Amino acid sequence: MTPAGTLLCATDLRKAYGPTKALDGAEFSIHPGEVVAVMGPSGSGKSTLLHCLAGIVTPDSGTITYAGRELSAMNDSERSALRRGEFGFVFQFGQLVPELTCVENVALPLRLAGVRRKEAERTALHWMSELEVADLGSKRPGEVSGGQGQRVAVARALVTQPRVIFADEPTGALDSLNGELVMQLLTEAARSANAAVVLVTHETRVAAYSDREIVVRDGKSRDMERIV
Ligand SMILES: Nc1ncnc2c1ncn2[C@@H]1O[C@H](COP(=O)(O)OP(=O)(O)OP(=O)(O)O)[C@@H](O)[C@H]1O
Ligand SMILES: [Mg+2]
Repeated sequence: MTPAGTLLCATDLRKAYGPTKALDGAEFSIHPGEVVAVMGPSGSGKSTLLHCLAGIVTPDSGTITYAGRELSAMNDSERSALRRGEFGFVFQFGQLVPELTCVENVALPLRLAGVRRKEAERTALHWMSELEVADLGSKRPGEVSGGQGQRVAVARALVTQPRVIFADEPTGALDSLNGELVMQLLTEAARSANAAVVLVTHETRVAAYSDREIVVRDGKSRDMERIV
């Protein structure tokens, strides 16, 4: 059963890679507009949990429910429609398309969804200004700094107005100043759009931007009371 008001919820997730139990009974839930940090040591199962929640990896067992629908009951095309339409992604290295300008990169998810170029780029520029990178529109990713590129990647994740943003170490390649700026802008933009954020991070300082933290250890998760 999904607790009332929960947008995305997982119970008793298990996923093995050969003898490795990447997930061993992990639990997760997030409300609309909530920012949840997923912390834990390297190899503990954080990315595997994120990939399962996003419908990229299929768990061996357990249930994942998004907006009242079970992911395992969907076929591949329904799951990919969900990823394109309702989810946004930010990874450690922005993964922008090097041949496209920044505004074309941000507009890309809309172009793929059939939105006309002019309208897609207008919406892209709106999100780029939210992330304070509107002036980089005509540059290519190779011509901007790491922190700027990551803000462009965040704008691209937001451009389709997703209900959930999955961010796996979004500041992992940045210095602490740029990391904080990216987190501040990411969480502000997500909150104003009422998008939930699943934020995987090693860093306490990054996790401090969340509403709630969970810790994953040996494939098991537990809620952590914020100690202020
Ligand atoms: N595709 C895969 N094939 C084989 N083993 C995998 C695969 N993906 C993850 N694992 C293993 O599952 C365990 C959990 O990996 P996962 O990537 O989820 O950890 P993580 O917490 O994200 O680590 P990090 O902080 O280093 O990114 C690790 O032991 C890892 O080696
Ligand atoms: Mg990882």
